[in-house]
Amino acid sequence: MNHNPNNAIGVFDSGVGGLTVVRALMERLPFEDIHYFGDTARVPYGVKSVETIGHYTTQIAEFLLERQVKLLIIACNTMAAVSSQVVRDLSPVPVLDVIEAGAVTALSASTSLRIGVIGTPTTINSNAYGRAIHELQPEARIVSQACALFVPLVEEGWLDHPVTRMTAQEYLRPVLAEKVDTLVLGCTHYPLLKPLLQEVAGPGVTLVDSAEAMAERTAALLTERNLHTTARQAADYHFYVTDVPLRFQTIGERFLGRSLSNVHVVKW
Ligand code: DGL
Repeated sequence: MNHNPNNAIGVFDSGVGGLTVVRALMERLPFEDIHYFGDTARVPYGVKSVETIGHYTTQIAEFLLERQVKLLIIACNTMAAVSSQVVRDLSPVPVLDVIEAGAVTALSASTSLRIGVIGTPTTINSNAYGRAIHELQPEARIVSQACALFVPLVEEGWLDHPVTRMTAQEYLRPVLAEKVDTLVLGCTHYPLLKPLLQEVAGPGVTLVDSAEAMAERTAALLTERNLHTTARQAADYHFYVTDVPLRFQTIGERFLGRSLSNVHVVKW
């Protein structure tokens, strides 16, 4: 079912942040069609309960499966942290999530096996990154830190602002004190803070961008399952959202790195 290589890839997130994953996919797999779902009416998920996130995640995955996607990508770290099993249980097509991709990349980047992980409070409380990394490498030492203020700062566009720098210094201090050599950016929004975080962390720390890691993992899975599209014309992109809030276009385009069209509003 739905295993037609020319079907679209389904990508979803709690809002516009997952467009960082779409951007990486567009660059890595330019011929693949993408259906993106962003739950802009109910974002942020990063401070909601596991039960609520599970319920929303099910609704979104079912919506994309009705559109005959060939693969589901959970771009939201928070959803991946607490609801990836819910999606795997209901999906007839392969499911990838940013956490497994980030865990693999973190381990290949780290030589000391001292790895920092930053994310929303729900992602960090779930310890999903810690579990995913330990499953692959039990010796790894994980230092995690919830960074609740980063999502609003990024949405405000304060990517290189003194307030963001001070906030990053404060959040990263305990993580850097543990001498990590790798830092996982465990949230859709954090790739936009990469230059600032790299400066604060210093040159000795490798930042793992979960969006890039996800695009690499997707390319590998399409090869393994023989699911690469045979199309060679410009890909088709559709963006489904549950609300068009103030500054949606500006913020969305900042994440996507290009203009945002084919936006459809879904009313639930
Ligand atoms: N997409 C979320 C994540 O990657 C961040 C925004 C939210 O809290 O919903 O964790």
